[in-house]
Amino acid sequence: MTLLTYSSSLIKKLVNSNGHSLEYIDGFYVDKNLHRKPLPSVIFHHGKLYYRYMDRIFSPTPIKKMEAKQSMLMCEIRLKYFDEFVDDAYNLKVINEFISYIPPNKHRLNILDFGCGNGKYTLGLKSRVEQSEVFGVDISMNAIKCAEKNYPNIFWFHINDQTPLPFQDGYFDFIFSSFVMHFNISKFFICELNRILAKNGKFIFNIYNEKYFSNELFQHMEKSGFRVDEIKPSFQTNQSFYMVKKNK
Ligand SMILES: C[S@@+](CC[C@H](N)C(=O)[O-])C[C@H]1O[C@@H](n2cnc3c(N)ncnc32)[C@H](O)[C@@H]1O
Repeated sequence: MTLLTYSSSLIKKLVNSNGHSLEYIDGFYVDKNLHRKPLPSVIFHHGKLYYRYMDRIFSPTPIKKMEAKQSMLMCEIRLKYFDEFVDDAYNLKVINEFISYIPPNKHRLNILDFGCGNGKYTLGLKSRVEQSEVFGVDISMNAIKCAEKNYPNIFWFHINDQTPLPFQDGYFDFIFSSFVMHFNISKFFICELNRILAKNGKFIFNIYNEKYFSNELFQHMEKSGFRVDEIKPSFQTNQSFYMVKKNK
């Protein structure tokens, strides 16, 4: 583990005396020293290990083991500091590659953005096919409120994994999900995504960092009736795009 390469006193020095004062927010530590290089991917702070998410947020739980409530709170910190923490140009490249998989000659498509966050990148999904109906769903009420306020021409829904997603079976031609599927996505959501995807529809997603890749996710997907049809490397970013179809 990365930590083993740093002695505790060196890390303390890094954390405390190198200008990296960390702010405590909702169980996480946040490094707002944007002019400094990011801290290592695991740090020892106040007697505990913290795992870095993106460059600036430190969680007491490794990303893959987080409960949904915890990853949602962490994403709300990302939302709060969106302009400072999110590399917009990079994300736009990822979204533009998503968009390139939408056939431009279709009259009308139903498109879902699963884990839409503040909706900024959902908007782009509408640009390809003007008449398409685009929906965004997220477990964070704060994110959905933000999206509703900024982009009223998209349909937004707050969701949870106890209640079926508010769509008919087979409704969506495309489901996209950007920077979401590396979290601990419940089996319930995966089954629901399978239910609402059209027979010949496509579910396309990326994973924030391949180190968060989880076999469990793909096992759940297979059990829910999905199959990973192709994994396409992105040429503009260091991402891979997972192209998923329904088995039947
Ligand atoms: C990193 S944000 C990405 C938001 C948006 N797709 C974007 O590209 O900006 C991840 C989103 O996934 C949602 N999320 C986090 N953990 C989740 C989980 N376990 N199940 C479902 N959604 C989750 C968060 O609420 C958040 O809005």
